This record gives sequence, C-alpha cells and structure tokens, in this order.
Amino acid sequence: MKKISSLTVGFVLTFSLICSTLTFAEELKPIQLQKPQVDGGRPLMQVLKDRKSSREFSPEKLSNQVISNLLWAASGVNRPDSGRRTAPSAVNWQEIDIYAATADGLYLYDAKAHLLKPILPEDIRAMTGRQPFVKEAPINLIYVADFSRMGKATNEDKEFYSAADTGFISQNVYLYCASEGLATVVRALIDRPALARVMGLRPDQKIILSQSVGYPKK
Ligand SMILES: Cc1cc2nc3c(=O)[nH]c(=O)nc-3n(C[C@H](O)[C@H](O)[C@H](O)COP(=O)(O)O)c2cc1C
Repeated sequence: MKKISSLTVGFVLTFSLICSTLTFAEELKPIQLQKPQVDGGRPLMQVLKDRKSSREFSPEKLSNQVISNLLWAASGVNRPDSGRRTAPSAVNWQEIDIYAATADGLYLYDAKAHLLKPILPEDIRAMTGRQPFVKEAPINLIYVADFSRMGKATNEDKEFYSAADTGFISQNVYLYCASEGLATVVRALIDRPALARVMGLRPDQKIILSQSVGYPKK
C-alpha cells in the first residue's frame, strides 16, 4: 500500500512538472517587431570611425524598436518584391538564420514576417560563449547556417560561403551598433556542440558565430 502511494506521488509530481514546463513553453509568445526605422542613423563615415568591439555590457534591456532596427540592419528584407536582404548571400541562398538569446528565452528571427519566433523558454545566454560577459549582454545573436538550403555545394564550399555570409551580417550589426551607441562583439569562442544541443539544432545546421549586443556598461 505504502509502495503504491509513493509511486502515485512520484507520478503526480512528474506529471505536474511536465505540465508546468509545457505551460511555461506556451507562455513564450512570438514577438512582432515594430517597423524598422529606416530613415535614422548617423552618417556612414562617422559610424565607420566609431566601429569597435566592446565586451562590457549594461543589463538594460533593448526596446522592441531597437531590436527591430538591429535585426533589420543585420539581415532584414530590404526589397520586399524579391525578398532580398540587407546583407548579401552567396547564390542568394539566405542560409544564415539569426537566433536571439535573451533573458526571456531563445527566439528565431523570421525576416520575412519581421517577427521573433519562440524556440525555447530558457535563458541560455551563458551558453552562447565561453566568456563571462556573454550572460550579461541583454541579447546574444547566434548565426546558424542551414546547410540544407545550400543546394549541391560541397561541404567545403558550404563552410566557406556560410562563414563569408555571416561576416556581412555581423558587420551590419557592428555598424548599426556604432550608429546607435550600442556595445557589441562578434565571437567565435563557443562550445558549439553544447550550444547546438540546447538549441535543438539538426546536424545540418551549423553554428558559425555569436554576437553580443547591449548598452555599454556605465
Ligand atoms: C571571426 C571573428 C571571431 C571573433 N571571436 C571573438 C571571440 O570569441 N571573443 C572576443 O572577445 N572577440 C572576438 N572577436 C573580436 C576580435 O577580437 C576583434 O574584432 C579584434 O580584437 C579587433 O578589435 P575591433 O573589433 O575593436 O577592431 C572576433 C572577431 C572575428 C572577426
């Protein structure tokens, strides 16, 4: 009798844990980003003068508008007729997905809908890099190449072109940040297998780089 009741208690506890996790997952809603402000920004030559890597971040969150501008600058759709983007991509494969790790959870940027899709209701910022500051930046972008979108290219070409394409996106982020007075640093120091596992990536999705963004520490 005693054995049955402890089994029952165990079952009820496990069941309620699963239910609360599911409820939590359901709570992470898509975030519709505001229209990007395409008429703002400082003159390009001044922005280039100020572009730099910074590794000290204030925990202050970025507004929906700033995230919208940031992601649109990174790789948003700038020609809706053709769906082409602010960053060039080899063969127009558009194989780089941008994930955003925030305190609320992990999202995937849908450039066409200009929307953040919920992926994981967990704060995985600390896992996006091997450096301690990554957990303090309010947003860590993770650039993931989807090799399945790259046709019949060889693996070597897929690696080369997806790395090159990520560079353009990262530089767009650097320039937007320099224009807006935001701190940023692109990063290769990542435990890729561990991060891919927690993000639930398929084997043909490859983490290329990550990039921390936030206000500079005062
Ligand atoms: C492909 C690439 C990988 C990088 N990886 C890291 C990194 O893992 N951690 C880091 O703190 N900085 C990283 N950086 C930033 C460089 O250290 C930085 O760009 C360099 O020191 C020059 O500084 P600057 O960007 O201010 O000109 C990386 C830069 C590039 C282009």
